[in-house]
Parts: sequence; structure tokens; C-alpha cells
Amino acid sequence: MIQPPEYIRDIQPYVPGKPIEELERELGISKSVKLASNENPIGPSPAAINAIRNSADINRYPDGGGYYLTQALSQMLGIAQDELILGNGSNEVIDIAVKTYMQDGDEAVMAVPSFVVYAMAVKAVGGTPVQIPLKEYTNDLAAMADAITPRTKMVFIANPNNPTGTLNKQAEFDAMMIRIPDTVLVVIDEAYYEYVTDPEYAQSMKYFGSDKNIIILRTFSKMYGLAGLRIGYGIGKKELLSDMNRIREPFNTNTLAQEAARAALTDTEHVSRSRACNEEGKKYLYDEFRNLGIAFVATESNFIYMPINDSSTIHRRLLEQGVIIRPMGPNAIRVTIGLSEENRRFVQALKNVLSSQF
Ligand SMILES: Cc1ncc(COP(=O)(O)O)c(C=O)c1O
Repeated sequence: MIQPPEYIRDIQPYVPGKPIEELERELGISKSVKLASNENPIGPSPAAINAIRNSADINRYPDGGGYYLTQALSQMLGIAQDELILGNGSNEVIDIAVKTYMQDGDEAVMAVPSFVVYAMAVKAVGGTPVQIPLKEYTNDLAAMADAITPRTKMVFIANPNNPTGTLNKQAEFDAMMIRIPDTVLVVIDEAYYEYVTDPEYAQSMKYFGSDKNIIILRTFSKMYGLAGLRIGYGIGKKELLSDMNRIREPFNTNTLAQEAARAALTDTEHVSRSRACNEEGKKYLYDEFRNLGIAFVATESNFIYMPINDSSTIHRRLLEQGVIIRPMGPNAIRVTIGLSEENRRFVQALKNVLSSQF
């Protein structure tokens, strides 16, 4: 029988959650709340919905270069269009970068826990993820720089980090960047960029014009509420992006996603509303956790990491009450900040679990 190479057999497949309807049927529950995937609970911008409704051309292939969307992004960011690459989610841009720059035997430095896709993408090309533990729930940039060897091709930094929601500040970021050799590509993943409130947040764009090799990732899946359409982008020097474009699928992002994303960029009111909802939810949850004496990590994104024993039992018991969160290893859970009613449901269910009434 045909077998994939050993490095593919070693990959643990990503286990997708069941559709919510299926889960409800199995558990005999209804009206469950999904706080597991860091989506925007408000939904997409009405402007994005309108753009989709008015988009009639889906008998045609999409615009492979995403001309109008990259034009809008280039205006917003003050960069050239050929300094942008679109992806089927920013996830695809990670894959494209890894396939472009890494091969069997190469290493990529990343934090652990961090976004699981980095390690998966690296293993898929026969590379080795070098995983550096977080320090106080935050990327340990000095230790990550220490881990760079002649075999290192890439460094991944999620800023803010998923699942902990913490960020790296400018000074530590600058100290790390000085130590990056010119043979290494740094991927700075800013999927939660739009949620950050800390004024000391490291500005990665500062390095955009420098001689460092960086790709900055952003996405329409989070603040812009378009996770289901799959669209994100990378920002980088045009020399890097032209390497990556060699292996990009010609029509990797679809027409509806491109048009909805472009419309979403114009709807600043939707962004403000989404941000305000997140801030309000964050404050409510912090207050409740403090009242309950539950540990949590302060977040700069739209989810909260909570160190808690026996996370799989907590996960199951919450599920039985119709609240879906994400267990993160044996001793932590991650909950997405939802609408106020959803946050209340989560807190009540958690109280029930902790007081063993359930
Ligand atoms: C840190 C981080 N990067 C990238 C992604 C991928 O997002 P998308 O492919 O939807 O743009 C996620 C999604 O959860 C994430 O948490």
C-alpha cells in the first residue's frame, strides 16, 4: 500500500470540532454557545454581506492577484501592492512561506504553546519545529533568538500569542531582531492585531523597510468577522513575496472573500463596535474571575487563557451545559470573549462546574 513519508506519518492531524447542531443532538441540548475558536461574536460587517449579495460573477475564476483588495490594503497600510500577498486565511500564507523557504532537515524556532499550525506546516515539509517554552505565558524572545542555529530557516512569533493572549513589547522585540541573521525569515503573526490596547505593543512595521527578512501576517477572520470566508494576508518585501508567489495556487482566494474583505475595510463602525464588545466582555469576565478566585492571564486579544486543573473534565462539564470552550493541554482552558449573554452563560456554567452542582 502507498505510504506517505515518515515525517507526514508523524504529524498529529488537527481535530476539527463537530458541527454545533450535531453536538447538540448528541448531548440533547440546545442554544449552546460557541466560545472555542476566537471568532467575532457580533458577526460580519453588513457592508461585507452586501458585497457578497451583489457579487454575481462566481461563474468566473477569481482575480488571482486580488487587485482591488491589495489596492485597498496598500492604501490603508501605506505600502505598495506588490508588498502584499493574499491567502486562504492567514493560515495559507504560513504554509506558503514554509514551503517556499524550508526543506527536509531545516529548523524553525517557535514558542510552545503557540499557534499549532506553525509546527504542522514545518513538519509537513520534513522540517523540525524547535519549540521554546513561554516565559510567564509570553513568547521568550531572548530564548528564541538563542535557539537559532545554522539550520534555522524561520522564526515564528505570534504577537499577541494564541492561546495565552499576551504580547511582546517593543524593547524586547528590538533586542531579538538585532540577533536575527540574514539567512532567517521571521514570521510575525498579528492575527489579533486589531484587538491590542497596550501602547507598548511592538510595531513590526518598523522592520518592514529594514534589511531584515520579515513577513507580517494579518487576517479578516477575527476582528473583521469573516472566518468562514477564509481570507488573510502577508506583508513583506517584494523580493520575498515574489519567491512565495512561485508556489502560490493561482486562484487561492475566492471572489466572495476578496469582495467582502474589501467592503469590511471600509466599515470602521463595525470594527469599533466589535472592539467595544470585546473590551466590555473582557472587563465583565475579569471581574467575575476575580470574584470567583479563578486564575486567568490578562489578554490583548479576544480570548482568555485560564490555568485550571483537569481541563478535559471542565471542558466536558461545560459542554453538557451547552458552553463550548477549548481545553489547552491538561491544565488550562481558553475561552473566546463572546456577546454579553454568552459570557454570562459561560460564567454561570463555570460556577456550576466549580461548585460541583453539575
Ligand atoms: C495566531 C493565529 N494565527 C493565524 C490564525 C489563522 O487565522 P486565519 O487562517 O483564519 O486567518 C489564527 C487562527 O486562530 C491564529 O490564532
